[in-house]
Amino acid sequence: MPTIHFRTSGRSVDFDEGDDVNMLRAALRHEAGVPFKCASGNCGTDRVLVESGAEHLSAPRKRERELLGPELIAAGYRLACQTYVEGDCIVSWDPEQQPLISERAADALTKKWLSGDAEPGRGDD
Ligand code: FES
Repeated sequence: MPTIHFRTSGRSVDFDEGDDVNMLRAALRHEAGVPFKCASGNCGTDRVLVESGAEHLSAPRKRERELLGPELIAAGYRLACQTYVEGDCIVSWDPEQQPLISERAADALTKKWLSGDAEPGRGDD
């Protein structure tokens, strides 16, 4: 059974072989503590460092590439809300990390998400 290990919080989430799970959704459902704001690839608050298992993740999407930039992508960072996992991986993050956009704009995105207008999932590429 594949496992996402959220190293910073010490949580592990198992899922069925053959499943393709959204990393942020798994973190939220299992209270893994990944910080987030928009859940839609617009704020960068949920960036995680992939310590192992990058080969089991979906390819970086357009929003990730634009928000993180080539240096963070090359260093192994991903946006949990934009990343789908199909095998074992280990990720970590700075528990104090802030959005890559202004706090005000990120808070507006959070309100939008909580209103039901957005959710973690597949979007444009
Ligand atoms: S939570 Fe905002 S980019 Fe993922």
